[in-house]
Amino acid sequence: MIFKNPLTKKLIVFSALLFGQQIFADPLFAQSITIPVQTQNNALVLQAEKNKEVSIIFFGKKLADANEYSQVPAAYKQTGDYTGLLNSAYTPSGSRNLVEPAITVTHADGNNSLDLRYISHQLTKINDNVSLLSVLLKDPVYNFEVTLYYKSYFKEDVIEQWNTIKHTEKGNVILHKYSSANLHLKAGSYYLNQYHGDWAKEMQPEESKLTHGIKTLDSKLGTRANLFQPSVFMISLNKPATEDEGSVLYGSLEYSGNFKIDLEVDYQDNLRIIAGINNYASPYTLKPNEEFTTPAFLYTFSDKGKGDASRKLQSWARNYKLLDGKGSRLTLLNNWEATYFDFNESKLAELLKDTKKLGVDMFLLDDGWFANKYPRNGDHAGLGDWQENKQKLPNGISSLVKGAQANDVKFGIWLEPEMVNPKSELYEKHPDWVIKQPKREEHYFRNQLVLDLSNPKVQNFVFGVVDDLFTKNPDLAYIKWDCNAVIFNAYSAHLKNQSHFYIEYMRGLYKVLEKIRAKYPKVPMMLCSGGGGRVDYAALQYFTEFWPSDNTEPLERVFIQWEYSYFYPAISSSNHVTDWGKQPIKFRTDVAMMGKLGFDIVVSKLPENDLKFCQAAIQKYNSVKPIIWQGDQYRLSNPRENSVASVMYVNEAKTSGVIFNYLVNNRYGEGSKNPIRLKGLDPSKKYKITEINLYPGTSSPIDANKTYTGDFLMNIGFNPDVNSGRTSVVLQLDEA
Ligand code: DGJ
Repeated sequence: MIFKNPLTKKLIVFSALLFGQQIFADPLFAQSITIPVQTQNNALVLQAEKNKEVSIIFFGKKLADANEYSQVPAAYKQTGDYTGLLNSAYTPSGSRNLVEPAITVTHADGNNSLDLRYISHQLTKINDNVSLLSVLLKDPVYNFEVTLYYKSYFKEDVIEQWNTIKHTEKGNVILHKYSSANLHLKAGSYYLNQYHGDWAKEMQPEESKLTHGIKTLDSKLGTRANLFQPSVFMISLNKPATEDEGSVLYGSLEYSGNFKIDLEVDYQDNLRIIAGINNYASPYTLKPNEEFTTPAFLYTFSDKGKGDASRKLQSWARNYKLLDGKGSRLTLLNNWEATYFDFNESKLAELLKDTKKLGVDMFLLDDGWFANKYPRNGDHAGLGDWQENKQKLPNGISSLVKGAQANDVKFGIWLEPEMVNPKSELYEKHPDWVIKQPKREEHYFRNQLVLDLSNPKVQNFVFGVVDDLFTKNPDLAYIKWDCNAVIFNAYSAHLKNQSHFYIEYMRGLYKVLEKIRAKYPKVPMMLCSGGGGRVDYAALQYFTEFWPSDNTEPLERVFIQWEYSYFYPAISSSNHVTDWGKQPIKFRTDVAMMGKLGFDIVVSKLPENDLKFCQAAIQKYNSVKPIIWQGDQYRLSNPRENSVASVMYVNEAKTSGVIFNYLVNNRYGEGSKNPIRLKGLDPSKKYKITEINLYPGTSSPIDANKTYTGDFLMNIGFNPDVNSGRTSVVLQLDEA
């Protein structure tokens, strides 16, 4: 449907959302059209003209009148654009471009230039909330085309953006760069919030003002790609956004392998964001008619601060991305830190009884249960040989599953199916399945190597490891999928073109996960990578939860979980109570309750009151977990800025909530001196606040009979009475 805009005399093609029909627009006139991708609060507006480049003319909080977008460019009096491409929706290189390109190619005839011009676009309404815009671009000289896709989620203000690249040239085309998205933002200044880390130090935030030039966030690790840096980031416009104020974009690549995000402040002072697979060591040879699909770049924007942005992203994840995001989860007892590799059937039988005694849903058997020729008694041997170790488990996994059933609990198991120890039968039988250089010495990461998932035989093997377990043990309830090594020695004995290695590895991994999910659609699986080395929304389509970090020291966890919570919902965060650190059991359990609760402790060694506390806390958790998993999360008091950290979850009806409070500064006299303002309540409702998770023998100074209006709690606040004698306080809030 095409409308004349009386003001500008330009053609506006309106969103099909309004009309519930699919539109194919191919303007006959040489006039520019605006194509708004609109969500509830925001708009990304493209401008196109037949046979001209497609540019981005607006990104941000949407205007009341979509007709006015075409007037946006004229409002800016910045320096001239020599290229005509600075705000390109997908910047090609080798023609007029002078800045960072989104795509770079060598054509079949050896020519390096690319020009991409608008041909048509199409808007499809997938359902009431989701729309898909596709924009077809073609090179006027070469038979080369790119289709840009923008999938928008109206209510959540989220956009996923990706492309397909295709050609019909007389020979192969080399793609040197093939980004997923190219954004263009206008503001006075840009503040980047990025993350760095290492093992047990995941999600360390850093904020800086972007200066002119390019700041790159990337990974070249192959697997465990987030170990040093994840692809999640925030960009605040004009000033650093706070929890409740400021304009902020959250971005992330939905990809588990090497990524590259370039943030370029150009000479006009605008911000160009170019995100995609890292082209490092990966020029891609594209055959005629082959379609290359990039992973999706995900983003949301809010002009109401970080809290609003993350609630949108969390809600999007639960509704559309995370496997079984609206479903349930199993509480568990894990044996990793309780036994490490040192266990046998009788020890496990005791742990199964402890699982029941503790009151959690499942026992999770970790690393060390497999391999015979080179038994897995440490991390130097056995990986790849997925047969039960006969000495430790003479009666196999099936007897453990039965043992669990006898104790009325479920049974889950650890796997690391992408990896191999050189000391293993698998390595001996199939050296060609292993990623290693043919003529160079091997380099190991945690004494292990990565299997070559670009090879279909290896894909079958990895699928088979999972499938065999489920076939033999149909009652197996859970998988913890680990991935401890990065890719050293990148080389595939299977691939002819080594430049495709990193990409084919990921394609292989996703094929395996697809196959597993086709056969076992909902079995819960934890995404683990020696901690949080692999947490991303491409992987989370196949996993119900992730392991944020091996660092379970609860004070550290308050900070780590806080940062993950900007991007991931609580239901996806596996938090275990362990013996790391010196905090009392109550503090450790309270922190682990802010997500999916698990335990990794020796239950039989717990002092009587600690055990009683845990048992009661698990029961309480079972009653409040729907609020934590599906409610809206509000970060009330930031541990990096205050002595008390406070996080709140409220149900949709605003009738119930849970508030977690922790002392994070041990200096003399520190505590909750001021009331903490609650958020997300109904100002006119009356609420009661009760302290929960009390340690046996202690009482609460909080009067559970008092009532407060939502107005009072949000404007004055509530004092949880956190101090050195009460370092961890959990409150339950209910409509009175
Ligand atoms: C790394 C994981 O993060 C741990 O939880 C544990 O499963 C070990 N691997 C086992 O090797």
